[in-house]
Amino acid sequence: MNVLVTGGMGYIGSHTCVQMIQAGITPVIVDNLCNANKEVLNRIQALTDVTPVFYQGDVRDEAFLDHVFSEQEIDAVIHFAGLKAVGESVAKPLEYYDNNVNGSLVLARAMRKAGVKSLVFSSSATVYGDPASVPITEAFPTGNTTNPYGRSKYMVEQCLSDLFHAEPDWSITLLRYFNPVGAHPSGTMGEDPKGIPNNLMPFIAQVAVGRRAELAVFGNDYPTSDGTGVRDYIHVLDLADGHIAALNSVGAKAGLHIYNLGTGQGSSVLDMVHAFANACGHDVPYKLCPRRPGDIAECWASTEKAEAELGWKATRTIAQMTADTWLWQSNNPNGYEK
Ligand code: NAD
Ligand code: UD1
Repeated sequence: MNVLVTGGMGYIGSHTCVQMIQAGITPVIVDNLCNANKEVLNRIQALTDVTPVFYQGDVRDEAFLDHVFSEQEIDAVIHFAGLKAVGESVAKPLEYYDNNVNGSLVLARAMRKAGVKSLVFSSSATVYGDPASVPITEAFPTGNTTNPYGRSKYMVEQCLSDLFHAEPDWSITLLRYFNPVGAHPSGTMGEDPKGIPNNLMPFIAQVAVGRRAELAVFGNDYPTSDGTGVRDYIHVLDLADGHIAALNSVGAKAGLHIYNLGTGQGSSVLDMVHAFANACGHDVPYKLCPRRPGDIAECWASTEKAEAELGWKATRTIAQMTADTWLWQSNNPNGYEK
């Protein structure tokens, strides 16, 4: 199977390409490198002995996509490409809607022209907003999103759902990720955020390696076991395997398929700090700070639907997530920059 992977040079895309190659699937990568480094191709090659075909270009460029589809025999598309920083999306809504929403529409149009009608889309648990309870099932209401990034994901879900209802021969899979963390256990591939990380795990990793002085823990007065926010952290390789399970089980079946990709376990911010300290062998300094606006107390997935229908379940532990992140961060303190 040949799969076009948009955003395949990014954090989740690169790990998914490695897992795909190891599962006998051929990735063809499209990425404009706006948040990625070309060194990723060498790392994929070193891990798999395969250098994927790579096209540098933008998913909003329809002529470029037409060219890619004309050169490659593509069976399905995984659409990772997009912008993902919540704070930046508030400051730059037009850029976020253009990249995430318009980019997805242009891609779907190019796919239709090429006769490729199997699409897996990177959605997010953010589409559930502040859930009434946990665990969150796929049947929970969506759309109560609090920022342009979240709304862009919700809008693309709506657009693709409408597309399926108009053209029911499509296979459209919406994968709602919980909190992807971790790195390849080889220590050669991982998350490489530019600037100050917004997300917890890369921030902790940079504190642990000495790039930043301390972690600000955003709120210790939530109604959770230790007062800090609880999330469903999932190892990026489990997430990658979830995409392969989706391609293999529903990717060729016409339908609108919606799955949570999480572990079903909640961990607090302090749980993650302590797990990371265990992994790196020293304390991770932190200070308790006020809540971050827009954050919710608790968010974790019901995993039953994915288990039953995709035959997929996350297996990697928090200890593995933190150990793999530490190996990546300590081997590559400046990410992919030499
Ligand atoms: P990432 O930024 O590492 O990867 C995205 C990739 O897409 C980058 O390589 C970037 O260069 C590329 N890209 C961006 N805009 C493009 C465009 N217009 N044309 C071509 N390439 C473009 O992010 P990631 O963490 O790997 O996330 C992948 C997807 O998963 C995103 O859609 C993101 O919104 C979604 N997601 C991520 C998380 C998370 O916590 N990382 C959670 C939920 C959903
Ligand atoms: C965030 C986004 C979400 C996006 C997801 C993955 C918000 C409100 N939500 O989720 O839309 O899909 O990232 O990219 O930004 N924390 C700290 N200190 C830090 C960073 C985080 O205490 O420096 C805490 C947060 O308050 C939260 C937990 O760590 O309780 C996880 O935060 P983060 O990694 O940013 O993910 P989410 O907020 O769950």
